[in-house]
Amino acid sequence: MVKVKHKYLSLVTKGKGIMKKHLIIGGSGGIGSAIINQLSDKDEIVNFSRREPAVDRKITHHGLDVLKDELPEIKGIDSIIYCPGSINLKPIGSLKIEDFQNDFNINVLGAVRVIKAYHRELKRNSGSIVMFSTVASKIGMPFHSSVAAAKSGVEGLAKSLAAELAPKVRVNCVAPTVTKTPLAENLLRNEKAQESTKERHPLKSYLSAEEVAGMAVYLVSEQARNITGQIMGIDAGIGSVRS
Ligand SMILES: NC(=O)c1ccc[n+]([C@@H]2O[C@H](COP(=O)([O-])OP(=O)(O)OC[C@H]3O[C@@H](n4cnc5c(N)ncnc54)[C@H](OP(=O)(O)O)[C@@H]3O)[C@@H](O)[C@H]2O)c1
Repeated sequence: MVKVKHKYLSLVTKGKGIMKKHLIIGGSGGIGSAIINQLSDKDEIVNFSRREPAVDRKITHHGLDVLKDELPEIKGIDSIIYCPGSINLKPIGSLKIEDFQNDFNINVLGAVRVIKAYHRELKRNSGSIVMFSTVASKIGMPFHSSVAAAKSGVEGLAKSLAAELAPKVRVNCVAPTVTKTPLAENLLRNEKAQESTKERHPLKSYLSAEEVAGMAVYLVSEQARNITGQIMGIDAGIGSVRS
């Protein structure tokens, strides 16, 4: 009887019941702060962003620009969730080369910088990385050439690293459609814009930050232990079905 109890306790402490350490980049943003709020209270959270996240829990915040500031030493990380991104929608004639460079920098190179700095600190056999793409990398949408090019880079990065870091570290992407966050403020600027955004989607909806965050939290969890190299669409149907 005692033996069984000890075995059970050891499973709890070695398994999903233990505290994890998550490195979030962009916890002050819409989806990033929702991720912080949804991760287990038991878990330790380290955040990088220029502004401090407005969240109701204790975190370790480093106020830094992920593209240029020195990254601090951090040991023993279970997951990296890279949230910074862009929505820069213009016709190709109006997009400058610098726009493409800026989008590539924040979406791809920022993630590369973080992953290069910390991939060796990801805990062996349980480490996980999540990055954000967009449904506009899956289906062509007018005016999305710069962000779609950058996010396709994110997807390629994720799949390549999933192969390279297996079996020890899992790497996945979340690819949302329009999500109500500060980044999408202009797309959802008034009731008319909100209604026409809903109307374009088969499920007649756009997304909340919380539901997109839920997918990222799932991907870094034990339940997703056999998921790697995936681009997880959460898009009210627009990426797959016509209605
Ligand atoms: N919202 C949408 O409709 C939508 C749709 C498809 C895909 N996505 C993708 O989902 C991800 C999250 O989007 P979101 O809507 O939550 O964006 P958001 O509200 O703009 O949040 C972005 C976060 O990234 C941080 N960040 C940006 N540049 C940074 C830098 N140089 N250094 C450090 N931190 C930086 C921001 O923090 P500071 O400003 O404090 O530095 C903020 O915390 C993005 O990759 C986005 O492309 C969003």
